[in-house]
Amino acid sequence: MPPKSRNLTCLTLATLMVAGQLSPAPLLAKPATRAAQTAQEIDSTGWMKPDPAMDKFIAELMAKMTLEEKIGQLSLLTSDWDSTGPTMRKGYQDDIRKGRIGSIFNAFTAKYTRELQRLAVEETRLKIPLLFGYDVVHGHRTIFPISLGESASWDMKVIEKSARVSATEAAAEGIHWTFAPMVDVARDPRWGRMSEGSGEDVYLGSAIAKARVRGFQGDDLKRVDTVLATAKHFAAYGAAQAGRDYHTVDISERTLRDVYLPPFKAAADAGAATFMTSFNEYDGIPASGSHYLLTDILRKQWGFKGFVVTDYTSINEMVPHGYSRDLKQAGEQAINAGVDMDLQGAVYMEYLAKSVAEGKVSAARVDEAVKAILEMKYRRGLFEDPYRYSDEAREKATVYKPDFLDAARDVARKSIVLLKNKDNALPLAATAKSIAVIGPLVNSKEDMIGSWAAAGDRKTRPVTLLEGLQARAPKGTSVAYARGAGYGFDDAGKNDGFAEALALAQKSDVIIAAMGEKWDMTGEAASRTSLDLPGNQQALLEELKKTGKPVILVLMSGRPNSIDWADANVDAILEAWYPGTMGGHAIADVLYGDYNPSAKLPVTFPRNVGQVPIYYDMKNTGRPINPKDPNAKYVSRYLDTPNTPLYPFGYGLSYTSFTYSPVTLDKTAIRPGEKLTASVTVTNSGARDGEEVVQLYVQDVTGSVTRPVKELKGFEKIALKKGEKRTVRFTFSDADLAFTRADMSWGSEPGAFRLWVGPSSAEGAQASFELTE
Ligand code: NOJ
Repeated sequence: MPPKSRNLTCLTLATLMVAGQLSPAPLLAKPATRAAQTAQEIDSTGWMKPDPAMDKFIAELMAKMTLEEKIGQLSLLTSDWDSTGPTMRKGYQDDIRKGRIGSIFNAFTAKYTRELQRLAVEETRLKIPLLFGYDVVHGHRTIFPISLGESASWDMKVIEKSARVSATEAAAEGIHWTFAPMVDVARDPRWGRMSEGSGEDVYLGSAIAKARVRGFQGDDLKRVDTVLATAKHFAAYGAAQAGRDYHTVDISERTLRDVYLPPFKAAADAGAATFMTSFNEYDGIPASGSHYLLTDILRKQWGFKGFVVTDYTSINEMVPHGYSRDLKQAGEQAINAGVDMDLQGAVYMEYLAKSVAEGKVSAARVDEAVKAILEMKYRRGLFEDPYRYSDEAREKATVYKPDFLDAARDVARKSIVLLKNKDNALPLAATAKSIAVIGPLVNSKEDMIGSWAAAGDRKTRPVTLLEGLQARAPKGTSVAYARGAGYGFDDAGKNDGFAEALALAQKSDVIIAAMGEKWDMTGEAASRTSLDLPGNQQALLEELKKTGKPVILVLMSGRPNSIDWADANVDAILEAWYPGTMGGHAIADVLYGDYNPSAKLPVTFPRNVGQVPIYYDMKNTGRPINPKDPNAKYVSRYLDTPNTPLYPFGYGLSYTSFTYSPVTLDKTAIRPGEKLTASVTVTNSGARDGEEVVQLYVQDVTGSVTRPVKELKGFEKIALKKGEKRTVRFTFSDADLAFTRADMSWGSEPGAFRLWVGPSSAEGAQASFELTE
């Protein structure tokens, strides 16, 4: 992306000295270079280890800092390269020179970050380097599938690899810090930000949170191919009422602790360097003012040692929330709650010094926040060499490397979920000599990479489905395209493209309909009240079906859509999400069977929006449906739609089939601390090699508080050649069965448990065991 403005005016040394911003002698000595550590010596949380040399360096530096310079370190502003929210403040370059900001986001490329860094290290009094942040969420230049899509792979290695590649590219363009992973549990597909996370589940979400933190941060934060990770948005942002972005959250503390916090805890345990607050309130207090979340839970209970940054102007937003009477009070509430860095609000910048002078904020609290931020700069090696991440030669050699593009294709094909495959409509038969590819997402480059695509190119690089199919189709097969219908909200009812599309369909052997949502219908500020295919796509799909030709629906979206009609009527359905730069090739790999689909849904697909929220680990109620009398009146059900989803969490088909043996347990009762192993033998009973995600679910039958009908407690993705079988074993103890008990303590309770091992949350071989006192 080209810079909108890069007017760096070089003030002369004399001007700065007159202005009192630069002293003749450098105040900042370089830190002693640590002996190089090898990756093997450090674990993924190695950066947190005590470092006396760092402590000494920072103490000496802070002793020289004025209050204003300290407050500068607590302020983060966007550059004018890219805006990811309402812009509050211009003139950031002057703010850098004046030491009024310590970090910048939305600025990248080695050249531009070098220019900005120069302002900080050559034109400020203390020469403290800037930290550069950016939303590198699912790729930096090479774009991987959206995070929800990657999560469908259930493959922690490829998810970690995606974050690793993203970090490598971003760090080569001067970025030190990503605002990712987003670890918000999301159970309402109306909420557009479901696309940015790992779906509805606590256990899967926690595993993915760890994999992403490891991928971004690597094992040594001094390595030039790593970025600091941010666990966001802390906390419970995904529980926005009615799925409307930024809306009120009102959930019990038990739900907070059992559902929304565990992925954050996992990220903290994996060593996430920073946390970002959320926009929402929790229990009446905006997250950026919540001492309970930011200090009591995050720092005291979890021992988090990094720094906390707000979301975009979320300190300012405490005023319209009705929590702060003005910005000054908002700043006081935020810093006293535990917010270290103010992102884009300029509240600390404008008011904090006054608050300190009035005794509303202690100098010690300011020092604590400054120290946490300077530590990250130190650990990234920026005091040794502030330009170490801004290296044009490395940048050139790194971005869009063929290996990265291969990795993006591999992750994309592992993310595509086969939802339906009637009579083996897929893979495409060699007899399909003419293929009609129809729909608004067939040849739309900009949509392929989804939202939050960092510095990804939307115009030329992404491989569309049409291009992927044209590249892959065997010689002699024609691949022809018609758009057919639009997907914009204002395309509803417009059928002027139907005739061309239907004529093409009529003369083809098979129809591939690529439909779904425009890329910016998910992501931030992209909530919907309907999950239907927008525009006139549904009507087009129904017309295509009338041709009598086989119809394959390739869905591209960042949320589950209502596709109950498609499920009942088309021949095959693939959920391809927004598959990234190499998406078209990846979808073609799956359509042609070069890759046998192995992904499983990380989120429940409702039949219609009225079922929302719907997720697999619900409670039973006192009046569950009796399967023997499903239409009984006074039970918890709808009159017009079954309670069951269209596709359950964990569901996804393969071109082969897998059979599960009964599940066996090595014991039927365990005491606290004792381990239990559940085993199942899975056989590839179909005609192709394939991969299966074997899933373990557990139900705590009764508790001091009611418990979900089942909860994911383990999974393993295995590859089996056709005819091959393997025994998969899951070992766990009472610690894995812990929850927030009636007295709010965390732990398990003795009693009866049920357990299932199977291919989705709705199927599985069952067994029972007991946890004794
Ligand atoms: C607002 C978004 O909520 C957050 O996820 C993002 O990191 C910031 N903007 C910065 O772009």
